[in-house]
Amino acid sequence: MSRIAVHLAFLTALLVTLPASTAKADDPQLSRGKYLVTLGGCNDCHTPGYFLGKPDTSRFLGGSDVGFEIPGEGVFVGPNITPDKETGIGSWTREQIVTAMQTGERPDGRILAPVMPWHAFAQLTADDTMAIAAFLQSLGPVDNKVPGPFKPGEKVSTFMFRIVPPGEIAAGAVK
Ligand code: HEC
Repeated sequence: MSRIAVHLAFLTALLVTLPASTAKADDPQLSRGKYLVTLGGCNDCHTPGYFLGKPDTSRFLGGSDVGFEIPGEGVFVGPNITPDKETGIGSWTREQIVTAMQTGERPDGRILAPVMPWHAFAQLTADDTMAIAAFLQSLGPVDNKVPGPFKPGEKVSTFMFRIVPPGEIAAGAVK
């Protein structure tokens, strides 16, 4: 090999290895997870302020302030799904997050209310669910405990979406 060819080979090797060495910041599994979280609407139900028209991006996925009522079941508020150990899912393993997404089962055995669209997320491939879990675990922890779930009849301390029987209230009226 001539000296120039050796130099060229070295340069090519350098060009090929450089992007790979910076890949950590742009891990394909994390970018896939971020993409799926964006598409999955997780932000809507899990970020404070979203349903009030002012999502608090500094507390992304740090827990909602609006609950959903399911008649006869109670009111469910999108919890903090950042890795905070006390108020989020920081003590869950990646597998436990995947199980919750695929079967609705939390580590304590409770099955998540279907407001959380886990029946739909159960259709994702194992790789995609794993990518979502990896992305959630890569977030900065947010310290925010959401209240609930509230049992039927219990006083609800958050804003809430309520199911009202037909004809009960006039459009625009708050009672
Ligand atoms: C339509 C609203 C809605 C959307 C969209 C949604 N969630 Fe949820 N999620 C909820 C609610 C409400 C709960 C709590 C249900 C309960 O306590 O039974 C929940 C619970 C969870 C939990 C269990 C947390 C815990 O502490 O029990 C995880 C994990 C989770 N969601 C992840 C996600 C991810 C990831 C996405 C997007 C891919 C997503 N959710 C999209 C409403 C939603």
